[in-house]
Amino acid sequence: MFSIIVAFDKNFCIGKNGKMPWHIKEDFKWFKEKTTNHTIVMGKNTFNSIGKILPNRKTIIVSHSPFIEGENCHTIQNFEKFLEDNKDNNEEIFICGGGEIYKKALPYAKKFYLTIVDTEIENGDTFFPKINLKNLKKAYEQKVNSTPPCTFYVFERDKIKEQDKTIN
Ligand SMILES: NC(=O)c1ccc[n+]([C@@H]2O[C@H](COP(=O)([O-])OP(=O)(O)OC[C@H]3O[C@@H](n4cnc5c(N)ncnc54)[C@H](OP(=O)(O)O)[C@@H]3O)[C@@H](O)[C@H]2O)c1
Repeated sequence: MFSIIVAFDKNFCIGKNGKMPWHIKEDFKWFKEKTTNHTIVMGKNTFNSIGKILPNRKTIIVSHSPFIEGENCHTIQNFEKFLEDNKDNNEEIFICGGGEIYKKALPYAKKFYLTIVDTEIENGDTFFPKINLKNLKKAYEQKVNSTPPCTFYVFERDKIKEQDKTIN
């Protein structure tokens, strides 16, 4: 089962100049809590922006070319096949970005861990697809008094119907 974990601003911006546009320690903690002891999947650009293999997780990097291979880190070159092969996997697999990876994984995701950041980034260059949250079931909401402020949400999608694939 695929879950998406992402933080975006009021305009769905997730990145600027190859980096996260904010540093919210509460959000890093939320990410760590949710993903520890699970498998995380990220595009090569996101991996390079983090700059290291995150501990206590199995990391899958997506790249068209062979990249890092290690004990807890593996590179896949055919992301579409990976999504198809694992869509009925009982294990929760976390899709961690960036823009290209979210876009491709969106039709497969059943659970969404969304941090909505109460800001508008100027000149952001990477975006999450503009989803309509009304088409998802809200399972959790927590306002956070961070700088900038944000809200943690968990949304669920019971069944992935063909017409819901883009959640628009
Ligand atoms: N706010 C958040 O929650 C959040 C989370 C994650 C990332 N981000 C931000 O997002 C930005 C990075 O996103 P991005 O869109 O530039 O890059 P990305 O999605 O992290 O990685 C893109 C790379 O993934 C590989 N790739 C993509 N589709 C593929 C496919 N179908 N098959 C095989 N490989 C594939 C390609 O690598 P090759 O070129 O090696 O083939 C491509 O260049 C950064 O600013 C980062 O900080 C934000």
